[in-house]
Amino acid sequence: MHDPSQEENKQLLSTIGPVVPVADFIDEGHASACCELFTECGVPSVEVTLRRPNAWDSVRKCIELMPNAQVGIGTVIEADQLRQAKDLGAAFAISPGILPELVLLAQELGLPYYPGVASASELMLARSMGLRAVKFFPAEAAGGIPMLKSLGSPFPDMVFCPTGGISVKNYQDYLALGNVSCVGGSWVVPSQAALAESPDTVIAGLKQVYG
Ligand code: 3PG
Repeated sequence: MHDPSQEENKQLLSTIGPVVPVADFIDEGHASACCELFTECGVPSVEVTLRRPNAWDSVRKCIELMPNAQVGIGTVIEADQLRQAKDLGAAFAISPGILPELVLLAQELGLPYYPGVASASELMLARSMGLRAVKFFPAEAAGGIPMLKSLGSPFPDMVFCPTGGISVKNYQDYLALGNVSCVGGSWVVPSQAALAESPDTVIAGLKQVYG
């Protein structure tokens, strides 16, 4: 099957890394401070998770302050969140799991969408709906690198963005796999305390990953 939109989704996944910051911003101020540093350090994307009532304010801030980056929405678990992501001009959306109704809605909206899978059965569901690029979550808890290697044999046409438990210690091992296009992680998102106390260390850490 050749689905041009899936080719585009695969392509997008390979450009938003190597590491997509998975951000649970405290508020707009935290988002602004991170966006400033992300831009300075050449971070190509950010996934703003919908885990707080004010998360959409942070999304708007990121879209405003990182116009040349791919700003995506994470922790999407309901249809209205996908619609809102599309309305705000988000570049992509990501879910921790897979719901057929959300896959269909994203296809209808024309929004690059990466549902999460953690098993061969969920991957078969995603593939049966035309998807060729998905999130692998929770990566470390669901089998990590050995699991991705195992899934590679029966599903050679699928690519993954593993997230959940990815760290500075293991991200390069994930990226070395042929079926991994990028990884996601919260460890590259500085806390407000780190920004206030040691901005130089934060910048050095980001430059190590994105430099
Ligand atoms: C996600 O939603 O992708 C994860 O919560 C990120 O996991 P991490 O905090 O282990 O990086």
